[in-house]
This record gives sequence, C-alpha cells and structure tokens, in this order.
Amino acid sequence: MSALDRDWWKRAVFYQVYPRSFADSNGDGVGDLPGITAHLDHLNDGTPDSLGVDAIWISPFYRSPMADFGYDVADYRDVDPVFGSLADFDELVARAHGRDIRVVVDFVPNHTSDRHPWFRESRSSRTNPRRDWYVWADPAPDGGPPNNWQSRFRIGRAWTFDERTGQYYLHSFLPDQPDLNWWNPAVREEFEAILRFWLDRGVDGFRVDVAHMMLQDPELRDNPKSLIARSRRMDEDWPEVHEIHRSWRRLLDSYGDRMAVGEVFVPDPKRMAAYYGAANDELHLVFNFTFLRQPWVASAFREATESFERVLPAGAWPDYTLSNHDVGRARSRYDSGAGGGRGPVGLGRARVAAMMLLTLRGTPFIYYGEEIGQADAEVPPERAVDVDGRDPERAPMQWAPGRGAGFTTGEPWLPIGSEADRVNVAAQRGDQGSMLSLYRRLIWYRKRSAPLLHGIYRSLDAPEGVFAFVREAAGEALLVALNFTNREVRFDAAALSPARSEGVDGDGSAAGAEPRLGAGRPAAAELRAVAQPPAAPRSPAHGILELSTVADRPTGLPVSLRPLSLGPIEGVVVQLGRPEPAPTV
Ligand code: NOJ
Repeated sequence: MSALDRDWWKRAVFYQVYPRSFADSNGDGVGDLPGITAHLDHLNDGTPDSLGVDAIWISPFYRSPMADFGYDVADYRDVDPVFGSLADFDELVARAHGRDIRVVVDFVPNHTSDRHPWFRESRSSRTNPRRDWYVWADPAPDGGPPNNWQSRFRIGRAWTFDERTGQYYLHSFLPDQPDLNWWNPAVREEFEAILRFWLDRGVDGFRVDVAHMMLQDPELRDNPKSLIARSRRMDEDWPEVHEIHRSWRRLLDSYGDRMAVGEVFVPDPKRMAAYYGAANDELHLVFNFTFLRQPWVASAFREATESFERVLPAGAWPDYTLSNHDVGRARSRYDSGAGGGRGPVGLGRARVAAMMLLTLRGTPFIYYGEEIGQADAEVPPERAVDVDGRDPERAPMQWAPGRGAGFTTGEPWLPIGSEADRVNVAAQRGDQGSMLSLYRRLIWYRKRSAPLLHGIYRSLDAPEGVFAFVREAAGEALLVALNFTNREVRFDAAALSPARSEGVDGDGSAAGAEPRLGAGRPAAAELRAVAQPPAAPRSPAHGILELSTVADRPTGLPVSLRPLSLGPIEGVVVQLGRPEPAPTV
C-alpha cells in the first residue's frame, strides 16, 4: 500500500461485494473469501483492462446463523466457515493491498445474533452479568410489549417475550437479532476492542450498519402514532449516539488513514448529515441514499444532489450510490416496467446513471454486478430466502455463460439471473460497447481528472429532461450533460458555461475568485449557474467530447457546443478547455 494518505476515501471508487454472491471457490453454491481473492484482477489489476476500483466494502462474513445472511453476528472476531477462515481473510487483504485496493469491512454494532454467547448468557437469568448487555423490559400492565416500537422488517412488533425470565427483549429487526444495550459502557468497550481487532489485521475502514440506531429512549416511551418524516422517534437517532461516533473517529484517527462510512436511514436530511459531526469528527462518510428511490427524472436527480450538498456540515464530503443489497438494482428500477427490468430502456438509463455516479462531486459506491448492467433475478416463491424480499438484487454475480454463470460449479444459493448467458463479465470484457467497458472508461478517466476528483460542482439550467453540470479544478473545466429523455435534445451549451468558478473544492475549501456563502458550504446560489453568457470568452463554440454513454459515438474529437446535441438517453463528458483570463479594463 502506498504512503499514508489520510484522504484516500475522497478520491476512491468503492465497490460493494456481497460475499455470498460474488464468487464461490469451493462449489458449495455460496460465495466466499477465496472467491473474492481470485477475482481481484477484475476489480483492479493496475490497468484500464480492469474495472479500476480503489476500495472494496465486503458485507458481513462473520460467524452467523444467517437468519439475516450475516447481519446477525454470532462471533465478531471470526469468519463464518461458509466464507472461509481468518487466514483466507488475511490473504485477501494482502492480495488486495498488493493491487492498491483498500478493504473496508462491515461492522454490525446495533444487534447480535440470538445465538451469540453474550445473548445466551443474557437470557439465562435476570441476574446474569450480561443481562444488561441487551435491552430488556418488563411487560406492559396488560402483559403486552413494553411500548409500540415496530421492527424495521415487515414482521410487526420489535419485542419478543422471553418465557423463562418473564421480560421482553428489543429487536429492531428479526427476533433472532436482539439489540445490544449501548448505554452500558461494557458494550462500548467490547466493540472498541473488536474495531481494534480488525484494524490491527489491516482493514482500511468500516461500513457501519444502522449507525443511527444504537441508542433509544432510555425511558422506552412510545413512538408518535403516525411517523411522518420529521417527527421525533424514540427508537433511533438518540442524541448520545453521536458520542459513540466521536469515540470511534478518535480511534480510527489514531491509526492514521482509516475511515468509516455509516448507514444512517433517517428521513430528515439534516439529521442524517449530523452524523458527519459538526466538526467533521464523526463518520467520514454518511451513505447518501437519495438516488436509490428517485424516479427517472433529471430535475429529481439534480435536486437530490443539491439538497444533500446543502445539508452537509462545513468540509464534509458527499457520496453517491445507485444500488445496494437492500434495494432493487438500478438496471431493473430504471426500466419502464414492461419486461420486468430487462428492456433496453433500463440498460440505457443505467449507463447514463453510471456516468452521473462517476462524475458528481463525491465518493461513488458501486454495487457488484452493476458494472455489467446485471438485472434483478427472478426468484420464485419456493426459492425465496430473505425475510424482507431482497433476494432478486442479491443473486449471484454473472461471470460467464453456462450453468452457474462462472459463479459456482454447484447449486447456487439463489437462482442465477435469466440473462446470465448474455450479460456477463466474459462476454463484455472485449466488447467496447458493453456496460463493463463504459464503467472501465469512466473510472479510469476519473482517476486522471482533477475536475472529477476534487473540482467544484455547479449545475446548469439545461433544457427540461437534461441534468447538466460543470466540474472545474485547476483551470480545467468539464461539462457533464445527461439526457434523461427518449428523444434527441439540442441546446446551446456554450451559453450555459459557468462564468466564474466558485464553490467548494475537494477539501471543502474555497475555490475560485468569489468568496463562498455560508459557513463553508456552497449555498444554493453557488451550486447553480443560470443560463447566461460567459463573462469571458472561453472558445465557446466547441469542446472536446471525452466520453459518451452511446457506444459508437466517436470520442476525443471536437464537438459543437452551439448546439450540443445529445442522443436519446445519452450522457456526455465534454472538455471545455481552459478558461481565458477575464479581460482587464
Ligand atoms: C441494514 C443492512 O443493510 C440490512 O441488510 C440488514 O438487514 C439490516 N441493516 C439489519 O442489520
């Protein structure tokens, strides 16, 4: 691994590996750690023939009864045998680091498995020393659960009665996932030791599961009857949870260059952004889920981008993602419905979305399989295994044609997607028009582009249906124009060129001539440039077409900006050239 670089996670492209479904090395039908190691060259072999990602986040591989496929941990310091061993993990980290790929692991502090020895002890008697490691409460006067809290899964209440000890325990997810009691200092100490265990093994960071849920109202008061977006919940996002994040940040900082990205699912964006810490002293990144449920509307994506930017604390760094293991895949979501996510519309849109993801200001997270445009798999009811209907997006990675799709030689734990013979890594590797080639081009272009890595972002008032923005750094400007519509669009892109560069750069510090508004944050006015002629001429008639999502459009050549013409569902990156100095009077 190269010299200490504290901010590597701002420039990195992250890739989420769902280990059960990435690659199975031993034919048992379930992916494993050696399978990941065997496919590192796909992720980054140091050349543009590979995807070129800089970091992987691996979903849980710890010992687990798999009631929630690893998000129910029975031993935080060991690898589940289905995934391999600690030695396999060490090998994976060493090999990944040898390719300059950082390794981020999942960290599940809110709950354990009900089979964890701590919980077995805790439920054994009311006087067991581990009793208050979990959240236990007496029944309500009518014998029912202590309050009205509900599980986040569609299973009803968040409390289960324990006959033997006559109390209820809290489980924000399955009854097999009892919530830990984070008011107990012993729990905090234990988890700090667990973090050190993995940091000392060389991991580069953590993805923190439900990072806003560790603490609840100590008085266990009811939630408001109707949970509207901004109402105060009693079962999550409790103020003292921020103390825990600050203590973890201090720990990570003491290791130099480690990071944490947290899953914070709270409806109020300001409360979500608060997990960066007012002084940027909590999570390095808070997952930005705003794209996961956006309708395919250009202005909605623009608004989602800017509303997230607006709520970030000073100096906080944004991030973006299109999919993960909890939501349907981008390719399928973007299809108009007909064909169940398999139509050309979804694929074209997923290409435009990939360009958006990899050109916005912030760290991109790619879910495995997105790089080939994998669709959700059809999972018949008799093959369904997840409690919450998330099987289709978790189906095996499609590596090659044939039975098992190059994922396994055995019977896969979830069905292989019906398109696997056509949509797979092997088929796309040599095809310049493939989704994989587009992802590779975007990622490798991004690595060398100062504007994309840390330039300011400012959107433009492009015609309806087009999301257009400029990224600019060190006097270099790129126009990104994304046509969300099914028709050709022509518009005068030169008239939309940003007149002055202002806003924030990669470190959140001021860039350009204008002072920033607000406390280090780009205000709305700074994020958007209205259509106006540029203040200084900057060879407006032409730019260089650097990239297009349309496979056969020639790149590297001058392209007219007056008008700029975009095909149906096409995204482009255009080099605007270096701005000429403003004329002095
Ligand atoms: C969030 C994870 O992303 C999800 O997969 C899991 O089921 C819950 N947390 C519970 O750990």
